[in-house]
Amino acid sequence: MENTFRDQIKLLSRMLFTFFFLFLILIGGLFYLIDNPETFESSKTDSLQDVTEADDKVENTIDLANGFIDDEGMEATIQNCTGCHSAQLVTQNRMSREGWKATIKWMQETQNLWDLGANEELILTYLSKNYAPTKKGRRQNLENIEWYELE
Ligand code: HEC
Repeated sequence: MENTFRDQIKLLSRMLFTFFFLFLILIGGLFYLIDNPETFESSKTDSLQDVTEADDKVENTIDLANGFIDDEGMEATIQNCTGCHSAQLVTQNRMSREGWKATIKWMQETQNLWDLGANEELILTYLSKNYAPTKKGRRQNLENIEWYELE
């Protein structure tokens, strides 16, 4: 009687230990899933792939990764003009060749922009061709307006 009781206690404690162990694995698994939800979400890895593909994609002649117009000289411009500020600071501007040259000179004199060497001609041509001032004497006509009568 004494012996079997002990055996039962041993069996019970082994079972408890096993369940406790399994419980730990379960909790560990749950925490892993919380930290890495993409394990079961294939859509997330898909969109990640889309982003990587967009890096090399050029659509409507705009390079999707940086917003520059795809043309000769774009690479040199990206290399020399996006290190200190965003690409948008460049692409939002419209200047003549002289204007771009003056901006570059200003950055060289005051902002530590390096000597662009042979790339300067390439960059100036690229910028003055693709980011030239739009000559418009007056604003564009409004389009698609729904006119209404004043009462
Ligand atoms: C060494 C750093 C550096 C590099 C490289 C650089 N710039 Fe700049 N640029 C600046 C700083 C600093 C400003 C001022 C930013 C501000 O006002 O917030 C600036 C401003 C500008 C502006 C706005 C000027 C204005 O009047 O508001 C333009 C346009 C510009 N940069 C174009 C370029 C182009 C094109 C190149 C490549 C040839 C270039 N930047 C490379 C530092 C740099």
